Amino acid sequence: MKTQVAIIGGGPSGLLLSQLLYTQGIDSIVLERKTKDYVLGRIRAGVLEQGLVQMMEEAGCADRMKAEGFPHDGTEISYGDEIFRIDFAELTGTPVMVYGQTEVTRDLYEAREKSGGQIECNVEDVVIHDAKSDAPFVTFTQDGQERRIDCDYIAGCDGFHGVSRKTIPETVRKEYEKVYPFGWLGVLSETPPVNHELIYANSDRGFALCSMRNENLSRYYIQCPISDDPNNWSDEAFWEELKRRIPSDVAAKLVTGPLIEKSIAPLRSFVCEPMQYGRLFLCGDAAHIVPPTGAKGLNTAASDVYYLYHALTAFYKSGSSDGIEGYSAKALARVWKAERFSWWFSSLMHQYPDQTVFDHKMQIAELEFLRSNRAAQKAMAENYVGLPY
Ligand code: APR
Ligand code: PHB
Repeated sequence: MKTQVAIIGGGPSGLLLSQLLYTQGIDSIVLERKTKDYVLGRIRAGVLEQGLVQMMEEAGCADRMKAEGFPHDGTEISYGDEIFRIDFAELTGTPVMVYGQTEVTRDLYEAREKSGGQIECNVEDVVIHDAKSDAPFVTFTQDGQERRIDCDYIAGCDGFHGVSRKTIPETVRKEYEKVYPFGWLGVLSETPPVNHELIYANSDRGFALCSMRNENLSRYYIQCPISDDPNNWSDEAFWEELKRRIPSDVAAKLVTGPLIEKSIAPLRSFVCEPMQYGRLFLCGDAAHIVPPTGAKGLNTAASDVYYLYHALTAFYKSGSSDGIEGYSAKALARVWKAERFSWWFSSLMHQYPDQTVFDHKMQIAELEFLRSNRAAQKAMAENYVGLPY
């Protein structure tokens, strides 16, 4: 096979890139290790920055998001029984869009299929060859057969466990990591959300988050030990613990019901530098991970896609390779800021196992400063709605 851009990974990064390139007449093939159903079975965060919303529009797949998503003009933050609001609209003029990542991925698959895009699922043993040369290629096996794609460029959109990052030699690659000493137990329930906006809760029992997917589908999270087994958390125990971590007047309004999904995710900060090696570019989770506090994972993947899409378009339309050469530096500059915000927001809201009373007092003082200081609120809001591309 032959294509202009070989894209490894059919998650949101790979699909969005493929669909955007298609709008510019640039050909790509997506290689995905799993099946489409498997990819669409993964539940991830659900807050989209305006930049991603605009890219979905540009990609021609924003209709359902506009009809079914919920623009939010602010978020609530609580500590103990105290609660305050950060008004994104007033502070930044920009809302965020509450719409599940799973739905984003579903819309992108549909758009790719409608436009006759080539997505090869169930591929195994993907290997990237000659990334440093002018004639890179990718080999893989599918249905027991060896196959090969010759291409101009390769986009490594294959997530944290993919092969793309590891193709960059260890002598070139630097990795930076912080693993947090707790996880998030996340649940879905077919109940109305407790609040019309998200609530991020700091409590002395640990962090909690009240989020949503629609009027009758709530998404809640509580901080828990990473060694916990979700099966040992009964529905009852989950609801009781959540209620203890949010202000009592909010807890009194909480509608509980059977949990239809329960899983525990670890929290990690991770960055790989550079994000480019010859004709191979890394996008999204392949290059960086953030803890979910602030929902920057998908949004940071989206900014990589933005830079790469524009770099490739400039190359194919006008022969300019400036964007391509500057991709890693440009993407990383924004990635590190998203890393900082996610780390800061996580540090502010969670209880750490080795935390002292002094450390907790510092969190409360910072929350009270945020509550009362417009400059602090503006800084938080600008990061939350998304820094400019
Ligand atoms: N060959 C082909 N496909 C692969 C390989 C491989 N060797 N390794 C992994 N993949 C596929 C995975 O099965 C997955 O579908 O690559 C895809 C990567 O998708 P994601 O992990 O979702 O990563 P990305 O598309 O960058 O999405 C960014 O935002 O909120 C965050 O972590 C969240 O998924 C998220 C992300
Ligand atoms: C979610 O709705 O899943 C969600 C929302 C906000 C976050 C993280 C996750 O910060």
